[in-house]
Amino acid sequence: MLLDGKTIIITGASSGIGAAAAKIFAAEGARLVLGARRSELLQKIKDEISADGGEAVFAAGDVEDSHYARELVQLAEAHFGGLDGAFNNAGVTGDMGPIPDMQEDNWHKVMAVNLNSGFYAAKHQIPAMRNRGGGSIVFTSSFVGHTIGLPGMGAYAAAKAGLIGMTQVLAAEHGPEKIRVNALLPGGTMTPMAGDDANFHEVVRDFHALKRMAEPSEIARAALFLLSDHASFVTGSAMIADGGNSINKL
Ligand SMILES: NC(=O)c1ccc[n+]([C@@H]2O[C@H](COP(=O)([O-])OP(=O)(O)OC[C@H]3O[C@@H](n4cnc5c(N)ncnc54)[C@H](OP(=O)(O)O)[C@@H]3O)[C@@H](O)[C@H]2O)c1
Repeated sequence: MLLDGKTIIITGASSGIGAAAAKIFAAEGARLVLGARRSELLQKIKDEISADGGEAVFAAGDVEDSHYARELVQLAEAHFGGLDGAFNNAGVTGDMGPIPDMQEDNWHKVMAVNLNSGFYAAKHQIPAMRNRGGGSIVFTSSFVGHTIGLPGMGAYAAAKAGLIGMTQVLAAEHGPEKIRVNALLPGGTMTPMAGDDANFHEVVRDFHALKRMAEPSEIARAALFLLSDHASFVTGSAMIADGGNSINKL
């Protein structure tokens, strides 16, 4: 099992990629601390993991709040004795629209959920991993802002690109402490974030060399690799799991 005995925080665990990761990581032996705002969904996922013989605890909260990032780390330490990894995955697209028309509140909200949350997470997770003698952090970034300037997604693109810059610095700062830090760049993935507009899905599918969108589990398995010891020499990377989105020009 790839995460046997490791304690891992997953944010955005109530839905989509994070929910898929919760099931997969638990099956790989991880002890999980689940985070998101919707506690009823977190309870359901925890119950499913427990029914399968896995271990998970959860705390509902908002990743815009630094105290919540600290609470998740404290939960890991209180229940499982420490923290080995984190999949900082919660995110929102915000309102779509050209930047001259964008409400300033929307810009700040998208930054808070996608980028500030990464700062808070690292701020509290790194000391806990230092106590443990090492660890692995994964931030969910995006193909948007890296390989495609998707019209209408200026704030989201800036936030997700910001995570890559922070990843590189964190990896350099904490590599000597055996803490690896990577960004994961999914392509279009069939989650509630992608909506249910078939025409939009068709447009997005076409961006990808594989001519389809990912299942959430396919992205979760890429995160699993980065969190596991199989990725022991991988740090500071922007790992693309995008179905060929970035190399596809047709
Ligand atoms: N789907 C795609 O095509 C795609 C592509 C590239 C990257 N991504 C990224 O992948 C990550 C996961 O997204 P997804 O596709 O799985 O979407 P999703 O199904 O909408 O899941 C988003 C998750 O983030 C949580 N979340 C949102 N705002 C939050 C907040 N303020 N505080 C705490 N939790 C919050 C949501 O939980 P609650 O609502 O319960 O709080 C939910 O669990 C995101 O970072 C997204 O940007 C997605």
